[in-house]
Amino acid sequence: MRLAILSSHEGSLLQLVMDACAAKQLPASVELVISNNSTSRAYARARDMGVDTLHLSKNTHPDADLLDQAMLSALISHGVTLVLLAGYMRRIGPATLAHYKGRIINTHPSLLPKFGGQGFYGRHVHEAVLAAGESVTGASVHWVTNEYDEGAVIAQTSVPVLPEDNALNIEDRVKAVERDLLLDTLSKLANCSIPSNA
Ligand code: GRF
Repeated sequence: MRLAILSSHEGSLLQLVMDACAAKQLPASVELVISNNSTSRAYARARDMGVDTLHLSKNTHPDADLLDQAMLSALISHGVTLVLLAGYMRRIGPATLAHYKGRIINTHPSLLPKFGGQGFYGRHVHEAVLAAGESVTGASVHWVTNEYDEGAVIAQTSVPVLPEDNALNIEDRVKAVERDLLLDTLSKLANCSIPSNA
């Protein structure tokens, strides 16, 4: 499985997957990292690992269709077979979505469909979980559509929300299970034990 990973900020999940591939814990290779943020930690992490990087943003491509085309061309030229969004804060364009239908996944720190969609990112998700008085939250991996966090869920892991929790505790607890969930899902996709959504 030849991966492209799209990441906007910290890139801790990107690092996890690059490390798992390098250590051959995952039968996959990271062929390309794309970020809308060329000064992000994610971008630096990819470069440090010697992975090809591509910066695509409103600065490089003010025209959204041209950005979409540039993304698609890069994915195809790198022979990418699965696209992973790991903390990527932009929508995927229609040409890329159509070509890679059923081959783009995202990881999200809630039990979708709860606490997903525009505005639900990072700590905001966990603050909303607390405000809603939920007793359980978790992480989801799902297929990507043109709407934020809306495609069919592939896999989820739950964690409890404890009475003494704040958003920070919950974030840490979710991040811990999200890492295993993501590697497990990628491994199943690589072994074709999860069918593509195309
Ligand atoms: C993850 O928690 C993921 O669920 C969300 O963004 C976070 C990525 O963190 N979409 P990082 O950039 O990999 O550190």
